[in-house]
Amino acid sequence: MIITGKYPNLRLRRNRKRDWIRRLVQENNLSVNDLILPIFIIDGKNKVESIKSMPDVFRYSIDKIPTILDKAVKSKIPMVALFPYTNSKLKNSTGIEALNENNLVCKAIRLIKKKYKNNIGIMCDVALDPYTSHGHDGLLYKGKILNDETVEILIKQSLLQAEMGCDVIAPSDMMDGRIGKIRKSLDKNKFQDVQILSYAAKYASSFYGPFREAVGSNKSLKGDKKTYQMDFSNNQEALREIALDIKEGADLVMVKPGMPYLDIIRNIKDNFKIPVFAYQVSGEYSLIKNGINKKLINENSILESLIGFKRAGASAIVTYFADKIAKNL
Ligand code: PBG
Repeated sequence: MIITGKYPNLRLRRNRKRDWIRRLVQENNLSVNDLILPIFIIDGKNKVESIKSMPDVFRYSIDKIPTILDKAVKSKIPMVALFPYTNSKLKNSTGIEALNENNLVCKAIRLIKKKYKNNIGIMCDVALDPYTSHGHDGLLYKGKILNDETVEILIKQSLLQAEMGCDVIAPSDMMDGRIGKIRKSLDKNKFQDVQILSYAAKYASSFYGPFREAVGSNKSLKGDKKTYQMDFSNNQEALREIALDIKEGADLVMVKPGMPYLDIIRNIKDNFKIPVFAYQVSGEYSLIKNGINKKLINENSILESLIGFKRAGASAIVTYFADKIAKNL
């Protein structure tokens, strides 16, 4: 890097002296176009239910989805991500409820598409954890998460979501080879326009804790997810995951969690020319939100955390702050 001049001729503080010049030289900013809002869905009627581990985040019954969707569409949030809280009576070891065309996610997709048309995108997780009694993303057999057998179910789950009207299929399961197989089956069934957002670099993380309470998989989860989600010590392995998923047909890739993995976002951005999305996960949300509520940090910490993703190279951010911050942007 060439630095021309030196102190006292050169004073970098000159470009910070007033708000107007700081705005002129600002390198990154956040707009509502960068935000994806996750929504938790629950069965029943007339329910907007709080979630203990996630202050100010709620589970909505299908009939109440408009209370949050109206706001999201009005503030021009480009996409929502749907997550179901499945009644434990509907869970079993194979997660078969994932393939029920009247499960919560399918009902929600139909309602949103009918009511809001194409004014907002819908993204759906592809993984079995909201539906399995053991809380894993795939089939569990003799203590092992089966790969190829799980992928066969994920293909069906993806097709069902596409049939319902889902715009973006987002496999978050970390099984090997699923992107290629899902792409192939979508194409074969005339869903060539349905995008795939691969959770390609997804780490086995402690920061998912509050989410697992939100979808009700926390109590049931047996063991950990380290045999399929990535080791948080690794960087190069993320590039291999990304390269494979791009080759298999991913349109977009995701890094998850967010804040501890900004280096991974930057590394992917520097090595591949593909949009990279970041997921500011539940644990990150709750830490910041609780910090604000306890007045340990102020509300600007939200914007600071989100612009960090932009600086690292993210095109968009999945964040539970999306609806809360959209009106201030
Ligand atoms: C499920 C899934 C998880 C999250 C999104 N999809 C949890 C997990 O893998 O255990 C976490 C999101 C969050 O913490 O906000 N495959």
